[in-house]
Amino acid sequence: MRKKLVAGNWKMNGSLTENEALINSLIHRSARFQSVQVAVIPPYPYLAQAQQLLHSSTIVWGAQDVSLETGYGAFTGEVNAGMLKDFGCEYVIVGHSERRQRHHETDQQVARKAKIAVDNHLKPIVCVGETLAEREKGETLSVLSRQIDAVLNTLAIEQLQQVVLAYEPIWAIGTGKSATVQQVQEVHQTLRQRVESLDWVSAQELNILYGGSVKPSNALELMSLPDVDGALVGGASLVAEDFIAIIEAAA
Ligand code: 13P
Repeated sequence: MRKKLVAGNWKMNGSLTENEALINSLIHRSARFQSVQVAVIPPYPYLAQAQQLLHSSTIVWGAQDVSLETGYGAFTGEVNAGMLKDFGCEYVIVGHSERRQRHHETDQQVARKAKIAVDNHLKPIVCVGETLAEREKGETLSVLSRQIDAVLNTLAIEQLQQVVLAYEPIWAIGTGKSATVQQVQEVHQTLRQRVESLDWVSAQELNILYGGSVKPSNALELMSLPDVDGALVGGASLVAEDFIAIIEAAA
């Protein structure tokens, strides 16, 4: 039985004061939902704060990206996977569409980041998703296949159990317009079948999250779908009450 994961991707938001209030509220109010794994994913400068505040809680934390460099040295601005693991990081988002688009990350780079994460005992949350133009041209499944196959071809079969997938249709991110339950279930089922063709056990254990305008009003119908194993939440994860309502919907 897969345990649902609800992860809050804070993107470039937060401050010491706001984060402390939000995290303390989550610790206090999410404790009763033990059937759901909750994670917060703050910007890099606040990871140490998250680690300290979450030290004795069941909420875990993750980072929004990881370097392609695995060593140490002259890589200004980069943070390697070993550093993240060093102080207790659990998850790392790789291939978010905002990084694919703004930083021109390729499928191969995303796949390598996923492998670097697993090699360093971090769990990558690998984001895949199509643009509106690709959906309208009927290319959704072929785009997603290309994105996921890069990852599946790069990781060893036994590493697949460490991976989390997140389906984030780009047109649904930050727009208030979520994908429909039919669209979400179709994609999630296809992604699981793709993994299943390589390794049945990993496919059954694989967490496939949905992300894209998840909010209290649509969380229950999305979280009830058979192949949806949680959510990657942007905007609504910054408001304790909304994030708790989404966790409750997944419970
Ligand atoms: P929103 O929930 O704000 O649409 O963002 C989704 C997302 O990109 C999570 O990674």
